[in-house]
Amino acid sequence: MKPFRIAIVIIVGAVFIAIGVFVARTANWFPTQASAESGQVDALFNVMLGIATVIFLIIEGGIIFSILFFRRKRGDDTDAAPIHGNNTLEIVWTSIPAVIVIGLGIMSYQLFADMQAPRQNETVINVIGQQFTWTFTYPYEPFPDLTPAQNTVAEGNMVSNELHLPKDHPVLVKITARDVMHAFFVPEFRIKQDAIPGKTTEARFTPSVIGRYNVVCTELCGQGHANMHGAVYVEDVADYDKFVAALRDNAKSAALDPRRADRGKQLMTQKYPCGGCHVLADAGLAGTVGPKLDGVATRAANNVDDRLTKSNAKDAAEYIRLSILKPSLYLVPGFNDLMPKNFSDPTVMPDDDREAIVNYLLTQTDASAAK
Ligand code: CUA
Repeated sequence: MKPFRIAIVIIVGAVFIAIGVFVARTANWFPTQASAESGQVDALFNVMLGIATVIFLIIEGGIIFSILFFRRKRGDDTDAAPIHGNNTLEIVWTSIPAVIVIGLGIMSYQLFADMQAPRQNETVINVIGQQFTWTFTYPYEPFPDLTPAQNTVAEGNMVSNELHLPKDHPVLVKITARDVMHAFFVPEFRIKQDAIPGKTTEARFTPSVIGRYNVVCTELCGQGHANMHGAVYVEDVADYDKFVAALRDNAKSAALDPRRADRGKQLMTQKYPCGGCHVLADAGLAGTVGPKLDGVATRAANNVDDRLTKSNAKDAAEYIRLSILKPSLYLVPGFNDLMPKNFSDPTVMPDDDREAIVNYLLTQTDASAAK
């Protein structure tokens, strides 16, 4: 190659690399960095983006250059010169990408290992994904004035469908799924982890900016997938402690009187995924996959569509109970058999929870919604 051409190639290469460095240092396309780790994740992404920018410019620049300077001359119908192999070129275009990919692999692994390393004083929160809701279980200290059985009930009630997190404290989320695969993703934390039935996965992060965010599901998990998101609050330690204290009070009163109707309402909104599928105005549920629950007690008592007769239930309470335990027994006309079948398993839904929900739904009377 002539020295003049070598100089051109070097100048163009330097310009492309300068553009790549500029893009890598200035691109900011992401939501707030709300965890201590998010800056590192974005930095690694920007390195990839810078390299991709240089490669993009080389390829697109080469295409434009060829279009401009190697056009077919008018009247030239000959084939181009056949070229077979160029060892130098092949070695160069194999080894450069190999070095880039191996380098990015090492950087990614190091970052991942850093993020997953256990920290001191982690707040451990259990996360369950199920069609189509996230539920979060918070740490529990037994009450000395409750019996062991009552403490077990109370512990099972340290749940919420809101994820509250103390600012600047390391968090470990242990994630699993009840039915199918889901994925836990909080964009502002740059954290994404699969939720897999029968398996517990982990993710660690340290929330660093107070605010309200959203946990979304990023695994296509069924009809309500798009609605499967929940509120995430990063708050001062004092506010977080207040939230957990209120959860504790509630868990204690649940243990002392577990079948109250108002507790059933809370279970439907906070613990179980009812709102993913059902409408129930009184509880603020707005799902559209299953039959509406407004006025369900009236419809059951009036035997609308022969639901009592067909499900062999003696009264409205038994009809609602059977609809939870054996949802396939009677389907409301126009709806498919999509209700989860695992609520008859007491480890999924304890008897007290179910009876509280039955007692609550029995209060859902509405003469105008008799159909
Ligand atoms: Cu759960 Cu998509």
